[in-house]
Amino acid sequence: MAIEKTLSLIKPDATARNLTGKINQMFEDAGLRIVAQKRLHLTKDQAGAFYAVHKERPFFNDLCEFMCSGPIVAQVLEGENAIAKNREIMGATNPAEAAEGTIRKLFATSIDANSVHGSDAPETAREEVAFFFSGLEIVG
Ligand code: CMP
Repeated sequence: MAIEKTLSLIKPDATARNLTGKINQMFEDAGLRIVAQKRLHLTKDQAGAFYAVHKERPFFNDLCEFMCSGPIVAQVLEGENAIAKNREIMGATNPAEAAEGTIRKLFATSIDANSVHGSDAPETAREEVAFFFSGLEIVG
């Protein structure tokens, strides 16, 4: 199986509740390695640029407001089948539909405050990793 890299964001609702360590533990317990990580506070324009693919969606403005409402932790996760594995660990976008034991089931409070983001495919993973990190910052 291929070793992949994927972008993960720990969102403001989770950093506000000091959940970074618990979430990181779940990634590491599942065999994913955190090969880059930084904490930052996005501007609304930066959040809009990251989520540009959603700009026509009705939730776009609320999503951008939320994502710049507090610090986030951006990270690159690496491992076998990392993109799908991370999405499994995160659970469904809407926490009401998330499976037991997933991050969103355990910690998310709404579809906006859903604690984490993860890339959904190889091409988006490459773009999203490059949005936050230079090659020099990724240390496997
Ligand atoms: P995320 O995986 O970060 O990708 C886009 C985000 O938009 C998503 O998680 C949700 O937090 C947010 N969002 C709000 N409403 C919706 C919706 N109806 N469908 C999908 N995503 C939504």
